[in-house]
Amino acid sequence: MPASAPGATLRGFQPRDVPVVSHIVAESLHEHYDSSLYFSLSQQWPSGFLIAADPSGTPVGFLLGVTQIEGEARILMFAVERNWRTRGVGTALMNEFLERCRVRGMRRATLEVRVSNVSAIRFYTRFRFGVTDLLRGYYSDGESGYQMARDLR
Ligand SMILES: CC(C)(COP(=O)(O)OP(=O)(O)OC[C@H]1O[C@@H](n2cnc3c(N)ncnc32)[C@H](O)[C@@H]1OP(=O)(O)O)[C@@H](O)C(=O)NCCC(=O)NCCS
Repeated sequence: MPASAPGATLRGFQPRDVPVVSHIVAESLHEHYDSSLYFSLSQQWPSGFLIAADPSGTPVGFLLGVTQIEGEARILMFAVERNWRTRGVGTALMNEFLERCRVRGMRRATLEVRVSNVSAIRFYTRFRFGVTDLLRGYYSDGESGYQMARDLR
């Protein structure tokens, strides 16, 4: 069994997780995606879609990574339900994800984050991600983003 955070257990994504994951995405990332997106992305790299679940099995956070470039993992979505934040769930998800990237021989991990998302930028910096680019007007509401990346060796 993969790592765990206090009160939460990490496991792979299952189709029945979609409604709760969609809710976390709406509440935390203010985005709305069709259910089919989660199914198709989970098939692309099943080990890259990690769920943190409470003792009843209900998702309280998740990290969805994809591989679009050879040797490179991209974190597409990452969020923890508000009431579960700052308890180490995000750290457990990120540690497990980076380990899975290494096991698969990935050399680099990337992500995008809103320039205003100071807490997430601080979190990623703690995980040795650094800003590699400014993405002007990257988000649908016009806000710019940072691309961040780190080596995995
Ligand atoms: C970013 C996010 C996923 C982090 O998840 P999390 O579960 O809160 O992460 P952790 O609890 O592991 O760490 C968060 C902070 O709490 C601290 N922390 C962890 N356990 C703690 C504890 N028991 N007591 C006090 N602080 C604690 C960590 O040191 C960390 O500090 P840092 O951000 O300065 O590095 C979460 O804040 C989130 O969902 N944000 C909204 C969505 C979002 O912005 N996603 C990223 C989009 S790019």
